Amino acid sequence: MTKLTGSALEHHLDSLLGVPAFAPPTAFSENAIWNDPSIYAEAESDPEGWWDHHARALDWQTPWHTVLDWSNKPFAKWFVGGRLNASYNCIDRHVLAGNGERVAFYWRGEEGEERALTYNWLHEQVQRAANALTDLGVMPGDVVGIFLPMIPEVIVAMLACTRIGAPHNVVFGGFSVESVRERMAESRAKVLITADGARRRGMVASVKSEVDTILERLPDLAHIVVVDRTEIAHPMTPGRDVDWDSALDAANPICDAQPFDAEHPLFILYTSGSTAKPKGILHTTGGYLVGAAYTTKHVFDFRPDRDVFWCSADVGWITGHSYIIYGPLMNGVTSVMYEGAPDYPHRAIWWETIERYKVSVFYTAPTAIRACMSWGAEEPNKHDLSSLRLLGSVGEPINPKAWLWYREVIGGGTTPIVDTWWQTETGQIMITPVPGITHTKPGCAMRPLPGIVAEVVDNDGNAMSEGQGILVLRRPWPGMLRTLYHEPDRFVETYWSRFGSDTYLVGDAARIDADGDIWILGRIDDAINVSGHLLSTAEVESAIVGHPKVAEAAVVGQADEITGQSIVAFVTPIEGTDTNTLNEEVRQHVAVQIGKIARPKRIIWTYDLPKTRSGKIMRRLLRDIAEGRALGDVTTLRDPSVMETLRELISEHADSED
Ligand code: PRX
Repeated sequence: MTKLTGSALEHHLDSLLGVPAFAPPTAFSENAIWNDPSIYAEAESDPEGWWDHHARALDWQTPWHTVLDWSNKPFAKWFVGGRLNASYNCIDRHVLAGNGERVAFYWRGEEGEERALTYNWLHEQVQRAANALTDLGVMPGDVVGIFLPMIPEVIVAMLACTRIGAPHNVVFGGFSVESVRERMAESRAKVLITADGARRRGMVASVKSEVDTILERLPDLAHIVVVDRTEIAHPMTPGRDVDWDSALDAANPICDAQPFDAEHPLFILYTSGSTAKPKGILHTTGGYLVGAAYTTKHVFDFRPDRDVFWCSADVGWITGHSYIIYGPLMNGVTSVMYEGAPDYPHRAIWWETIERYKVSVFYTAPTAIRACMSWGAEEPNKHDLSSLRLLGSVGEPINPKAWLWYREVIGGGTTPIVDTWWQTETGQIMITPVPGITHTKPGCAMRPLPGIVAEVVDNDGNAMSEGQGILVLRRPWPGMLRTLYHEPDRFVETYWSRFGSDTYLVGDAARIDADGDIWILGRIDDAINVSGHLLSTAEVESAIVGHPKVAEAAVVGQADEITGQSIVAFVTPIEGTDTNTLNEEVRQHVAVQIGKIARPKRIIWTYDLPKTRSGKIMRRLLRDIAEGRALGDVTTLRDPSVMETLRELISEHADSED
């Protein structure tokens, strides 16, 4: 395709909006790992046999005797009796096979620094780091927190934990230290690995000195390991704080990988729920690794001799866990890891990076695609992106226009797109096209992968053959969460109570079309999806109400062109407060409590919120107001006139925003 821009590109994309589905190019299918649709029937005929077969792609010290034990549902056990080590599967076996000099990661720093990290390098570093953690008293089962930027040490730190059976608890580097505190306290972490500082768009932000402010309230945390990233001055408390480089230098270089039970905890990752308290999603070793390896190989059609992969997520999210670290490494893939933002140091950095490392499979989020779209096709058009053979999307529904832009401008009009639906809880991709087989529809996640059963059901849990309903998963899968850490009742209640203990409630609405393809519509709970990251309304509200000048707050999501949804907060100040300067104060307060990502885009100050007679805030009506829709039923409101006042306030607000 000639490289189009501006109105010619618009016209071209509009003409494609009418195309119902895109078949994979013949050359792609012919060379794809999966190109025969009979895989779906094969998996269905014997699901446990299917997983048994795919689990054999890993190296097990002891084989399992039972594929799935579902007798204590919804608490599943996979590959019962099996023993393996995660870091061995990610590193050692490639080294032992003679591939140690293969690059595992091309790492690029914000300032343009470049490093090629080989499997041999990882092997050496991970063994030292594992021993350094053991030297600090970390035992199998002890939780290790990780709060690091996108630097090579984060990969080493995660794998070192798995080498000694210490579940890691990674906190996204953009979160506030208050979020770190909460997650460390909830998981009772023993050690926290962090950095002196982080580079953010050319600036250096202190991290360690911020972390110090939360330590008094974390009595279980015995040691802080500090990676030097920025040379920013930072306090070190002797006996408690340990320098990463010195600890690795002093550590024994040999640490044989010990096998752990398939159900040994691999990691905890906190995600937003419908209450203010985040949920500690627990993944265990065998099943999660099988799920991550299986999906990486087949959804991204990976062959180590052919592909260079780039998943642009942050390691602090599940996408980073499964598709930067575990999935690609188990498959012996070469990946790219970039420290910075998509527009730093300039808006062509992604395209430059793809060209430079000849990336063949690129996996990113709709919000990023829409941002790139808004910057125009000129920059990508200037770069040779012909190495790309497959594109992926994850995190939120992708609108057909962005899907088409991605395919045409980035994929040169030929690359298949895999729109992958999954969750922190599922651990692995669940609903997605298979790139060598599926005829993809723009904006549609399509079908559950072989071995997975997803259905759209009505309010009573009956499967629908066509129409809009609630998305559920009907059968256990290897990468599924095993429980919520220390909260088994909440686990059962949140996911397995609405339709019984055989049906996992996803929390998304979906539509199934006449062909049986699944379109994800968004959350049915109060979660807000900002740039592919879930935030709970309750969590943001509780942060806002924590501000001393705030009496009450209600938070809703509003459609946003770039980020999918943005946060609108309706806030009641303490009486007599001057709200003129309060906007920034409250936004800043939320940034400190949770992180910048949770800052409301708009704050509407109001002395009244729409409440039912029993005092419950009706967020549904606030959503209508925020999105400028006709109001739903207001008859249950204690005082329906509130809505008129709010409508006026929001239109004034829109005026002042212009
Ligand atoms: O609502 C769905 C949306 O993201 C939610 C899961 O969020 P999280 O656990 O943070 O994991 C995000 C990365 C896997 C889902 O319940 N979501 C994720 N992928 C898609 C999606 N919505 C539509 N299409 C997708 N491909």
